[in-house]
Amino acid sequence: MSDVVLVEKRGDDAALVLINRPKALNALNPAVIDALGAALEQLRADGVRHIVLSGAGPKSFVAGADISAMQSLTPREAEAFAKRGQRVLDGFAAFPGVTIAAVNGFALGGGMELAMSCDLILADAKAKFGQPEVDLGVIPGFGGTQRLVRLVGLQRARELVLTGRMIGAEEAVRLGVALEVVPRPEAAEGERPPSVVVERAFEIVKAVASKGPVAIEYAKQALQTAPDGTLREGLDAEAALFGKCFATSDQTEGMTAFLEKRPAAFTGS
Ligand code: CAA
Repeated sequence: MSDVVLVEKRGDDAALVLINRPKALNALNPAVIDALGAALEQLRADGVRHIVLSGAGPKSFVAGADISAMQSLTPREAEAFAKRGQRVLDGFAAFPGVTIAAVNGFALGGGMELAMSCDLILADAKAKFGQPEVDLGVIPGFGGTQRLVRLVGLQRARELVLTGRMIGAEEAVRLGVALEVVPRPEAAEGERPPSVVVERAFEIVKAVASKGPVAIEYAKQALQTAPDGTLREGLDAEAALFGKCFATSDQTEGMTAFLEKRPAAFTGS
């Protein structure tokens, strides 16, 4: 297991994934990107369904792709780097259970893009979001021009990408980037601040984990089709996935349990 990405299992089906380069504000260099990809694969293989993603240290979730690792890339290498990052972020988007970014500080550039690839974003009171790539003479490369539009609409995404403006936690919630602001208690000098935002994320994981696992996976797939096509295509995709639910024992169990007035014991099959 890598030391730039730490994985801590929480129960049988959830894990905390912590990006661990606090001295570089958890910037995404190739080693971190690959370690995140490897962690996702391992978690899938271990049957972990839900992920909370956060950054080590009190200051930053992820302050972007690593600028020193990008500085001398050729155009071809830069495109490959963007695709490498996008593949890993797609892995968060397609993970079967819920993925929650617990944003505990800077989420800039690739960091905001990583957060946006998760199903939900929680912002602690010190969170700062932004796509400042234009300050560096480049554009977002890990999905920022696409996922941000889907979250906040084209007009606001244009403003944020074209000005590189940073927004705080409250504004992120107002604009629809983040779901809610989580307070950050003060820590004494030298003390590690308690990660309230991570624990709040696990409360949400707990609420999702008690539901039918196949239903969660299909609901994610159906929701993800919504911004991409026409309403008719989305409704057709929803109906097809609704139908597929009826080939699962989770559907039989969920509906039988309701009618027998007992809690459902889902198996995820
Ligand atoms: N890449 C590499 N190193 C980074 C980094 C990054 N994205 N962000 C911060 N660091 C490093 C700094 O170089 C510094 O290292 P040293 O101590 O060795 O000098 C260390 O982290 C601490 O950073 P600062 O001293 O700058 O801390 P600060 O509190 O003064 O400022 C900050 C914090 C505003 C986040 C500032 O660090 C910053 O602007 N970082 C860059 C943010 C950025 O531009 N992100 C987008 C990257 S491009 C991208 O992500 C493209 C894409 O879409 C794929």
